[in-house]
Amino acid sequence: MLANNIISETTNEGTQNNGAKTSNHKNKMIATTLVLVLLCAYCGKAASSCNPGKTTCVTEDVLHMIMRATPNLKNDLERRPTFFASLKTSQTLANIIDIVKFDDTKINIGGEYDSSTGIYTVKQNGIYIFSCTIMANGSGAVHFQLNKNNHFYTGGYAAKSTYGAQTVTSLIELRTGDKVYIKARTGGTEKVYGSHFSTFSGYLLSK
Ligand SMILES: *[C@@H]1O[C@H](CO)[C@@H](O)[C@H](O)[C@H]1NC(C)=O
Repeated sequence: MLANNIISETTNEGTQNNGAKTSNHKNKMIATTLVLVLLCAYCGKAASSCNPGKTTCVTEDVLHMIMRATPNLKNDLERRPTFFASLKTSQTLANIIDIVKFDDTKINIGGEYDSSTGIYTVKQNGIYIFSCTIMANGSGAVHFQLNKNNHFYTGGYAAKSTYGAQTVTSLIELRTGDKVYIKARTGGTEKVYGSHFSTFSGYLLSK
């Protein structure tokens, strides 16, 4: 790791000098201080945001390099199941069992979302975040709900006015094989606005 390299490089320099012991000790202290400063900068990061060009950004970059070099963290950050789909084609819900099929899949890391059915099928246990925006097409309302398998989980209502819309965000604990989707809630004939104004997205938050 990078922090270890800093220590061993400065240690080697030290042994080449005369009075190697003192110099070596000094360098070790400098390296330790450097590592502590880096850690402090990292802790402070949560409170203040990084402005490009500032010294703190350099330390942040170094820490990001260290994080990238750790296989598990890299795996967690890059392979987290994530999807985002929008409704391109307007859809009419005419039956209580109708599922909204968000047909334009823009992101689908892990391939859990199926645009032909509108269903997200879980491959890893964990806590997930889902967000759904439904806009009504015309002056009728849209009653919708987010389902976890065959059960109502959260409800939504796009108001009875042209372009009435609502966004519902839900956190759900899911297990492999669970299915999440957006469906009709009342069974009336209701039109969902397409043209990418209605969207469905989700990702694994934590295991
Ligand atoms: C709204 O509904 C009308 C009538 O069904 C349809 O022709 C139109 O494409 C829909 N518009 C959108 C953006 O969903």
